[in-house]
Amino acid sequence: MTDYPGLVIVKGEGVADDAALALSKHLGAPLSDSPGEGLTLMLEQDGLSLVGYGLRFQGDFTQMLRRISGGRLSHEMLVRIVKTRSERPIAFDAAAGMGEDALLLAAAGYTVYLFEQDAVIAALLRDAIHRAKRRSDLKEIVGRMILTEGNSIELMQTVPEQPEIIYLDPMFPARRKSGLINKKLQLIQKLEQPCAQEQELLEAALALHPKKIVIKRPLNGVYLAGRKPSYTVKGKAIRYDVIVL
Ligand SMILES: C[S@@+](CC[C@H](N)C(=O)[O-])C[C@H]1O[C@@H](n2cnc3c(N)ncnc32)[C@H](O)[C@@H]1O
Repeated sequence: MTDYPGLVIVKGEGVADDAALALSKHLGAPLSDSPGEGLTLMLEQDGLSLVGYGLRFQGDFTQMLRRISGGRLSHEMLVRIVKTRSERPIAFDAAAGMGEDALLLAAAGYTVYLFEQDAVIAALLRDAIHRAKRRSDLKEIVGRMILTEGNSIELMQTVPEQPEIIYLDPMFPARRKSGLINKKLQLIQKLEQPCAQEQELLEAALALHPKKIVIKRPLNGVYLAGRKPSYTVKGKAIRYDVIVL
């Protein structure tokens, strides 16, 4: 869990009181009439946004459409790595963030169980999935994305399905400084905490015996928990370490 000092929730016009109250209770953050000095969650009719430091962020899977449509999905490195013949393949995304990689897996046919430990990110992701379910071009795909809030190290073992793939993209500190990250993501990265339990995360994944554990790393980053993968696939800015079991 992240601490959110000063986080407030502002309810927009036409939004039900009970929705704002439920969010306030869940996050332990007060409702306010106006944005606070730090981070503010704006609950409006067009969805939930995080506002602060002159920035505004809302999860938006429509931005992923260009990557998943028009035959481009099969060019995605991640999608190539997880290619499967299973009829109903299952993947766990143990560090969901805003769910973009999970969306690629779901678009490739996987039913994806997503785990996100940060309550604010989980709320933004839940809202993005909810809105995408109303779109004809995304609803079938996000319908295969099942989000659970909490620490995947404990929660992964509670899913009564055997994953073929476990995907790990815990935060890596180097990314925070990258000039390539867009401004909106900088806001989200104020909340995202690096996984302090790399070893436990990898052990929890290994204990479930998936066919593959796929780990996203910075191009020149160290192996997750020091474990040498079976093979590595390199892109321009990141690489995937793949442990085949
Ligand atoms: C780099 S982001 C993931 C980005 C994601 N792959 C995407 O495509 O949007 C890492 C996320 O993992 C979450 N996280 C790290 N360790 C976790 C754990 N053990 N359980 C659940 N979430 C975790 C962090 O809160 C953060 O939101």
